[in-house]
Amino acid sequence: MSVVNIAIDGPAGAGKSTLSRRAAAALGYIYVDTGALYRAVGLYMLRAGIDPKDAAAVTGALDQVHVSLRFIDGEQRVFLGEEDVSSEIRTPDASMAASAVSAHPSVRDFLFSLQRDIAAANCCIMDGRDIGTVVLPNARVKVFLTASPETRAARRCKELEEKGMPTPFDEVLADIVQRDYNDSHRAVAPLRQADDAVLLDTSDLNFAQALDALMQIIKERVS
Ligand code: DC
Repeated sequence: MSVVNIAIDGPAGAGKSTLSRRAAAALGYIYVDTGALYRAVGLYMLRAGIDPKDAAAVTGALDQVHVSLRFIDGEQRVFLGEEDVSSEIRTPDASMAASAVSAHPSVRDFLFSLQRDIAAANCCIMDGRDIGTVVLPNARVKVFLTASPETRAARRCKELEEKGMPTPFDEVLADIVQRDYNDSHRAVAPLRQADDAVLLDTSDLNFAQALDALMQIIKERVS
């Protein structure tokens, strides 16, 4: 069987990871969350006392960073050296650091071959911001998954409330609008829809409907 790669890009909060994980499980593919790699690099810099925004310092430290993805029972875990940092990378500090380091070309180059090698060896759904445009330009299927800022903010508010951290809608919305701007205006690998990607807007879809729509797009292209 030849290796099939599916690229899913889109803004934060569009549901990429939950939908990709479920679709990958249904297909028997691995799910690769590339944001975890940027988060691990960001975490390394924070721990090393390096300002993630300092391009020269971050670039200088990269040869000390040993980041890898391992798939345990089909679930992705991210490692720094031999340490599993899959939980630590989810803190707000690690998110901010990931966002800062992801703007440096040296970091993107550093993570590029790791992502390419995984995709070359495995049928996978890989999600991120530049998968269809930069990392896997020849992916069999490309999907640009989005939803309106208001929908994404409402979903995020619900999640925060469930985690016992209720946050005003306007605050969450302003944060999403700012992150969208940053992601799509950075100089290197900005978030944009690949010309040959299918646009899937989940604003008016519930989870089951969005998953159905995604599986339909995939089945039409992968026999
Ligand atoms: O998807 P996420 O929130 O875990 O991503 C963390 C950060 O990494 C986010 O600021 C965007 C960045 N990122 C990126 O620049 N390119 C990718 N392929 C994946 C994530």
